[in-house]
Amino acid sequence: MPRIALVVPTTTYRAAAFLEAARRAGVDVVIASDDEPHPLAVEQVSLDLADVDEAARALAMAAGDVDAVVGVDDHGVEIAALAAARLGLDQSPPEAVARTRDKAAMRRALEGRAGVRQPPFVVAGPDDDVAALAAEVGPPVVVKPVSLAASRGVIRADDPAAAAAAAARCRRILAAAGEDPDGPLLVEGYLPGVEVAVEGLLTDGRLEVLAVFDKPDPLEGPYFEETLYVTPSRLPGPTLAAIAEATAAATAGLGLRQGPVHAELRVDRGSPALLEVAARTIGGHCGRSLRFGLGMSLEEVVLRNAARLPTHALAPAGGASGALMLPIPRSGVLRAVDGLTAARAVEGIDGVEISVPLGGAVEALPEGGRYLGFAFASGARPADVEAALRAAWAALETTIDPDGAPCAPQEVSAGCASP
Ligand SMILES: Nc1ncnc2c1ncn2[C@@H]1O[C@H](COP(=O)(O)OP(=O)(O)O)[C@@H](O)[C@H]1O
Ligand SMILES: [Mg+2]
Repeated sequence: MPRIALVVPTTTYRAAAFLEAARRAGVDVVIASDDEPHPLAVEQVSLDLADVDEAARALAMAAGDVDAVVGVDDHGVEIAALAAARLGLDQSPPEAVARTRDKAAMRRALEGRAGVRQPPFVVAGPDDDVAALAAEVGPPVVVKPVSLAASRGVIRADDPAAAAAAAARCRRILAAAGEDPDGPLLVEGYLPGVEVAVEGLLTDGRLEVLAVFDKPDPLEGPYFEETLYVTPSRLPGPTLAAIAEATAAATAGLGLRQGPVHAELRVDRGSPALLEVAARTIGGHCGRSLRFGLGMSLEEVVLRNAARLPTHALAPAGGASGALMLPIPRSGVLRAVDGLTAARAVEGIDGVEISVPLGGAVEALPEGGRYLGFAFASGARPADVEAALRAAWAALETTIDPDGAPCAPQEVSAGCASP
């Protein structure tokens, strides 16, 4: 039986999803995690996941005879790649995975690459004149930290003075995130067009596109709140082919060879340009809606790919699906979320979850890096799914107290009323 080491925080529900997938695929799993023992794990290796190099070393020592090391989240993929290299396993090289974790390194690696269109960019250090750099790149520009995620600190600036202000704000956001406020910032040209997310799978460097998600809400800034994801894409066939080609060129340019990739692109008049590529699947909440031939989950696809078991018949299982990431409209304290029952009753809605407790502090973009919660939907056509998600969204009413003090948190799903 193939054996795989899985780097995963045990507290995420994705650990359970992966263990279920392993059972279905007939794969033995060793959980590598720094959290408390997972109740479902047969075997577990405890690591200090905060120290990437040390965790990789310890994992390579303790994992025993494994066929692959798979990282589940952004942090785990680096540990997995380093451990796999130590074990001599044929996976994506650690340098390639590291490039996906640093937006400046990614842009540099892809600069001038045939088949990859990307915006003009410069990297700004702490003493650089960002207004002058933005003028050089050509406004409008987008200013962002190289290391954060979930649109945190990503700001559009329409002129050089706004770019300088955005850079100062990015540095404050970096400090609040516990990162170096003097760290590099990326200043890049604003890419017009619609945005898509590509879910792909690499096998020996060859990319298979599993799904393309449309993001039907315009994302024009100044902050970039993710909301709707709907698959399959409604873009025309030739545009989808160009998206697949650009994604393949980007993964090759970065040196990725094996495992899942999640890419984001902007498409202007049929021509795709690359925003970024991650060496992991789409966040679990959106991935949950995907089902492949024979009812295979995304987690099972990932494990089978890692174990080099056949993943043929990977065509999506038919129909359309999607997710809504519920944005945080303003910063403050979450007092109430009303309308959950109505939102869940919308035809096509498979689930609505609020992930912030009542009484908890919430922070809007660009400072915040979380969402209020998620909704999932499925239906016959993408338009049905989009309509269902919008109807569920409209049914929800969120009360945020801008000057309140956080209090003892209460689960929204427990049905608490507002104070
Ligand atoms: N150069 C750009 N042009 C247009 N939009 C951009 C650009 N860079 C980022 N964005 C917008 O901001 C979002 C988040 O930026 P991204 O670089 O993907 O960082 P993150 O790691 O936070 O997802 C993107 O999904 C896109 O909507
Ligand atoms: Mg992104």
